[in-house]
Amino acid sequence: MIEKTSQLKKIFEEKLKNIKSVQDIEQLKVEFLGKKGSLQELMQDLRAVPNEKKKEFGQAINNFKQAIEKSIEEKQKELKKLEWKIKIESTPSYDESLLIQKDFGSLHPITIIQREVESIFESMGFTIENYSEIVDDYHCFEALNIPPYHPARDMQDTYYLSTGQLLKTHTSAAQNYIMRKYGAPLRAIFPGRCFRNESIDACHENTFFQMEGIMIDENISISNLIYFMKTMLSEVFGRPVEVRLRPGFFPFVEPGFELDIKCLICGGEGCPSCKDSGWLELCPCGMIHPKVLEMGGIDTEKYTGFAFGLGLTRLAMMKYGIKDIRTLNSGNLKALSQFV
Ligand code: DAH
Repeated sequence: MIEKTSQLKKIFEEKLKNIKSVQDIEQLKVEFLGKKGSLQELMQDLRAVPNEKKKEFGQAINNFKQAIEKSIEEKQKELKKLEWKIKIESTPSYDESLLIQKDFGSLHPITIIQREVESIFESMGFTIENYSEIVDDYHCFEALNIPPYHPARDMQDTYYLSTGQLLKTHTSAAQNYIMRKYGAPLRAIFPGRCFRNESIDACHENTFFQMEGIMIDENISISNLIYFMKTMLSEVFGRPVEVRLRPGFFPFVEPGFELDIKCLICGGEGCPSCKDSGWLELCPCGMIHPKVLEMGGIDTEKYTGFAFGLGLTRLAMMKYGIKDIRTLNSGNLKALSQFV
């Protein structure tokens, strides 16, 4: 019987070597571990073994089973990775070498996404606001519950101007201005260009786009936040999107969250785009901190609100499969004119 086991082992290893696809491995799994598989056969044989030998043989079969399971699992992982690699490499995103055949201009991918998100929020009753790119310390930090010397300032490396003003590091800088301008109840989004002193690489830029949104009214809760985000993202991606919230810290919201969406490429199974987690981090958000509402002149006895800071640059990269953030600011018309 030991001999039969080691023969089967050899056959298994031989077959494993020739496996080329996830389907092949499923077949091999059934062949060895299935109800009518080789291991079941061995178990049947075990019945005929004298009692004093049963333990030894039983142990050998068990070891064999565990070894098979481990090898199959490893092979499955390896094949899945390979399949994703092939899928991603063969997915057309844009072609830098393509000649421009049109003799008219085209919109920048971020403009396309921005307009799309704007019209979705507009249809849900949000107004669209513009805000300056040069702001003061009060609006960018203090009015957001980030006092001087607060460690949260280290999260954003700011460009200061000689006037003492600064380039806005996030669209949240407009929150106070908009609360003061409209009062409550209020629904507004404010897209804008942001600047941070970052070293530039494929994932980081010193100039990028965000879209902030706030909604303030009586009885606003986290479920309103989830509803609006889910609706908007499903519209942007043209199919239902699943979202989840994880705790996240931002001084201007309490509680604060990171909103993730289920990976649109693998559907949550895990792939290189979502680093095998099945989820993609997309948008920080939270319930507006009462101090921030107060500084915005909002009556906190009556009103609550949510805020979110959508990364438009990130969203455009996800939607269009742009792998290098630098493409977006490159001015490379061959690349940039291909998005519709
Ligand atoms: N302003 C934050 C940043 O750029 C993002 C952010 C976080 C905006 C939470 C929000 C929020 O509105 O609720 O890092």
